[in-house]
Amino acid sequence: MAGRIPQQFIDDLVARTDIVELIENYLPLRKAGKEFQALCPFHGEKTPSFTVSREKQFYHCFGCGVHGTAIGFLMAYRNLEFLEAVEELADLAGVQIPRDVSSKNAVNSKQTFEMLGRAEAFYKRQLRTATSKDKAINYLKNRGISGETAKIFGIGYAPEGWRNLIDDLAKNGETEESLEKGGLVIKKQSSGYYDRFRDRIIFPIHDKRGRVLGFGGRVLDQSEPKYLNSPETEVFHKGTELYGLKQAISSGQLESLIVVEGYMDVISLYQFGIKNSVATLGTAVTSAHIDKLFRHSPKIIFCFDGDKAGQRAAWKGLELSLPKIQGDRQVEFCFLPDGHDPDSAVRKFGSDRFFAASQVYGLIDYLIDSLKQNLDLSSGEGRANLLRTIKPFMAKISDTALKAVAARAISDITKFDENIVRQEIGLIATANQQKRVNTIKSYTSRSLQEQAIGLMLAWPSLASHVSEAEIVFIRDNLPDCDILFEVWKKCASENLTTGSLIERFRGVPTEQTLLQIAAVNNHLAEEQASIELKDVFKKLESKGVEQQILSIKNLPLNDLTQEQKQLLRGYKK
Ligand code: CTP
Ligand code: MN
Repeated sequence: MAGRIPQQFIDDLVARTDIVELIENYLPLRKAGKEFQALCPFHGEKTPSFTVSREKQFYHCFGCGVHGTAIGFLMAYRNLEFLEAVEELADLAGVQIPRDVSSKNAVNSKQTFEMLGRAEAFYKRQLRTATSKDKAINYLKNRGISGETAKIFGIGYAPEGWRNLIDDLAKNGETEESLEKGGLVIKKQSSGYYDRFRDRIIFPIHDKRGRVLGFGGRVLDQSEPKYLNSPETEVFHKGTELYGLKQAISSGQLESLIVVEGYMDVISLYQFGIKNSVATLGTAVTSAHIDKLFRHSPKIIFCFDGDKAGQRAAWKGLELSLPKIQGDRQVEFCFLPDGHDPDSAVRKFGSDRFFAASQVYGLIDYLIDSLKQNLDLSSGEGRANLLRTIKPFMAKISDTALKAVAARAISDITKFDENIVRQEIGLIATANQQKRVNTIKSYTSRSLQEQAIGLMLAWPSLASHVSEAEIVFIRDNLPDCDILFEVWKKCASENLTTGSLIERFRGVPTEQTLLQIAAVNNHLAEEQASIELKDVFKKLESKGVEQQILSIKNLPLNDLTQEQKQLLRGYKK
């Protein structure tokens, strides 16, 4: 990338994009009142509940609950990353993306990538040099890695010694300080630096575009630590990167992506023809990993050892996946036979029997199976307990199809009537009922703060009816008003649609809250919304006054200011 895209450009791009025109490229939209409708592309349905609003620049499906902006639609529908979606919109609008090349960070990352590429080339060369050849190549041979596979993964060798890499890269003018930024050297306590990787087999870690981000290094004997990885750097983030993703993508075998633990697992599976596995980098799987995986394949298979650590890793994968199921997305869990990791299992059973030799569960089966371990299902109480324990997990699922599958499975195992289970886990049968619930929810159980945010999200221009003094008073006297204030500030300072307003919050924690609030259907016309907003703010203000009174009520009269005394008198009236 040649630099950061200026935020102003993204704001303008979102403002000039029409979400209806955009989505029309992919779905046949039918006008329905002020909005447009289609069969939802994210879940199977026979009557359209996928709704696109030109006014709000926002889409929402009443059936499965998906919702978002134009950029969000491209990311979800085309499996694009944020920047890719921006590039696509810029193409459609026929504008060039300006790159802020003066940005210091961008220039630095470019140099870091080049340096890491040189380091990769150095390690690969070392595998071929006479001194290391026998030792390193013998190790790889003993582990059954072919020359061809080693080449595909760019495997190399870091020779013994403290300054091999430092000295080699110095020929290209790389300083020790810049090597440190790339995570390639370690600073000595006294002074100076030494090579981080010494006498290790080197596994370069690439991003999906093939740039080197960092390295993993394995000892050739029994010494410790067995693996050493690059530290987090400005270009290497373990929480988002996946080892082997580049190779899996190039293989084209993307009907699923298999998540394993180790470098050697990915490499062996690949060599045996299972080319679609990736590994986390010595860390637990993260939510960002799962987003990334789903961007490239509709199905994730978590494949771990059957031991305690494997179970823990799988459970993490389960918890993080539940909210992300929608449309054709699917998650499976594969537990290997005792004592095996994917590397040893594929060598023993071959790719044909790899899964057959393991225990494979679907998402819901694995959830139920894990929860029931601690319960006695022969008793009614035990079965009721299962229903109770599973509820919080069900609350994380927004996909109605998956919930329906769960309801059936829970009913089978607890012997409770399926309708009772459906009710318990909040599964509403039809889109119409869902709509009703959403509408009711929007006017009853939401807090005043949420109602105010909801109205401003739907009609950003209404923010101008609220004065700065008013909102500041509310923020300073009531809890949980920070988001309300932020939203007001954005709405009051710019002319925004719902969609472009939400885009201003992309990537910050507030984004999810706003998306949720915006998705609650709000059918009010602007006039009505304006009246409602005044009413909500009046209530917020009097709550603020109440709070103020509460805080001064028990103070001695002498300590109060004139204003505070007046406030108290007014209250007693
Ligand atoms: N790992 C690590 N640091 C360690 C040990 C392990 O980062 N000290 C990470 C590595 O990514 C490694 C993965 O955890 O690939 C799995 O480690 P482990 O199960 O110990 O090793 P294997 O993958 O089986 O490695 P090998 O087959 O080479 O012994
Ligand atoms: Mn292993």
